[in-house]
Amino acid sequence: MLASGILGYATETFESLVEGGAGAIVTKSVGLKPRKGYANPTVVQASYGLINAMGLPNSGIDEFVNEIREAKTVLEVPLIVSVYGYSAEEYASVARKAEAAGADAVELNVSCPHVKETGSEIGQNPEILTEVVKRVKAVVSKPVIAKLSPNVTNIEDIAEAAEKAGADALTAINTVKAMAIDTETAKPILANKVGGLSGLAVKPIALRCVYDIYERVKIPIIGCGGITNWTDAVEFLLAGASAVQIGTAIATKGTSVFKSVTRGLDAYLERKGFESVNEIVGLSHRR
Ligand code: DHB
Repeated sequence: MLASGILGYATETFESLVEGGAGAIVTKSVGLKPRKGYANPTVVQASYGLINAMGLPNSGIDEFVNEIREAKTVLEVPLIVSVYGYSAEEYASVARKAEAAGADAVELNVSCPHVKETGSEIGQNPEILTEVVKRVKAVVSKPVIAKLSPNVTNIEDIAEAAEKAGADALTAINTVKAMAIDTETAKPILANKVGGLSGLAVKPIALRCVYDIYERVKIPIIGCGGITNWTDAVEFLLAGASAVQIGTAIATKGTSVFKSVTRGLDAYLERKGFESVNEIVGLSHRR
């Protein structure tokens, strides 16, 4: 799947991602009201990945429903709409509107590492997270996926809270809170000072999160974080993910990264004598 936040705005780009092999699309997060986002610079590019602080820029759900409807007329793969809010009611209202416009599932962004009063401020607190998941589940019949933050002491506790509240699946992980400083100006590079780290550097962190969550919950886990090639994808499946998302690797490898991952995965399954991806989900937990 395409991970949320990368090229997740418009139908034309969704189509080129599907041509590149994406099996599902997750949109950039959308809220109840339009949001401008932060001033530039919003991205730091480094060898180990990206640090970004966009500030959840989006047109608001009432405008974004047009994009969802248009995408649904052409897309042949599921469209998952990422939603955020400043309260449980807001999450529910955005999710309901997204579903009514045709979303095949909603992914709750309860894990953006730096926008105040939303994101990880919700997803780091099991009680608030429970309330959000319950409210959304009460108004949406399509699957509800909670995207979890690694910026917590025990992600498996948060995963369990989301499962108990009724989440149908989990995405692990969102970005890791991070920053970079310009040595010449002696100032933080990002206008927001801190942002979220994605890409190569977070892969081992994400993998460990998926592994720990798999030990605790029964609902499917979608692995996300630094997946760049088929071996990364296989590692996540072995750790317990039933599917994976790719985001940052598109910046380095282009949209065909999805095909190179699925081809490599197919070859691996055949070489190892497996009939289906399902046979390797969680296999590294064998005792
Ligand atoms: C933003 C949102 C995220 O969920 C994230 O992980 C990083 C950045 C943003 O819009 O700034």
